[in-house]
Amino acid sequence: MLEVVRTGQDFREALSRARARGLRIGFVPTMGALHGGHLKLVEEALRMADVAVVSIFVNPTQFGPHEDLSRYPRDLDADLAKCAAAGVGVVFTPDAVEMYPPGDSTRVRVSGLTETLCGPFRPGHFEGVATVVAKLFALAEPCVAVFGRKDFQQLRVVDRLARDLLFEVSVIGIPIVREHDGLALSSRNVYLSAEERERARAIPRALGRAWSAFAAGEGRVGALRAVARDELTPAMTRIDYVAMADPTTLHILPDDASLNGPALLAIAAHVGTTRLIDNIVLGEDAPPEMTAAP
Ligand code: PAJ
Repeated sequence: MLEVVRTGQDFREALSRARARGLRIGFVPTMGALHGGHLKLVEEALRMADVAVVSIFVNPTQFGPHEDLSRYPRDLDADLAKCAAAGVGVVFTPDAVEMYPPGDSTRVRVSGLTETLCGPFRPGHFEGVATVVAKLFALAEPCVAVFGRKDFQQLRVVDRLARDLLFEVSVIGIPIVREHDGLALSSRNVYLSAEERERARAIPRALGRAWSAFAAGEGRVGALRAVARDELTPAMTRIDYVAMADPTTLHILPDDASLNGPALLAIAAHVGTTRLIDNIVLGEDAPPEMTAAP
């Protein structure tokens, strides 16, 4: 039976009761509008632990002033039905005052990892993510926490903060879940018109092109980025970055470098007013599978 709790206190108590029965907690933090990617995280949580726990909270502090906080998709009833069907034990859906009590003035900042890729394009974003995830971990620990590699930089940031703040939380990352045509599942895909949805397919295509070039022996960073960018440019409204980075430190690899180990190829681009991100670790991941239209 799915238990839905709205306060931090009730969340702690629900988890304490589960632990008292000897159950291990698998925690999946989300912002709701749940899709197959989120459900894959739940599946993994149930594989790693005994009870899956999902938080649903559209965290205001991680949205910039011109971002989509007010129009972010929200459908709690549908989310709860999906959680129940997926075998989730507890859903935590706090309101903003619960997570940011009156007088709130504490923020968590992870340096280094947040300074590349999306960092410069979304000032304050990772501080908002790190702050809310620290609060969620404080309520949920000890647990295994499952995150998606679609948000590769976020995964690294959250893993770092769990270690640095000494949370009793093991952070696990799972592979990107994609639509049939390769587009990564995202709550933001609902913003895309049919025409934009078609253009968005260039993103996994660009990753696939770069993967093929790499598999054929191309190891020069500049050449691999160019392959991806050429595929992307005609279809995108604007490209924030097509970057290659060290998958551990997220340091950007210069164009004149050559790969001598796995490397992250990460993309952030806008289709119309929707910003999409995607990535692949060359030398580690399989290429995005692209079959028929969605
Ligand atoms: P949200 O965008 O709802 O994503 C919740 C989790 O689902 C994240 O770990 C994300 O990486 C994962 N996810 C989303 N799409 C995925 C896909 N196609 N394949 C695999 N995993 C996917 O990320 C957030 O929420 C927030 O920043 C949060 C961590 C909850 C903090 O507010």
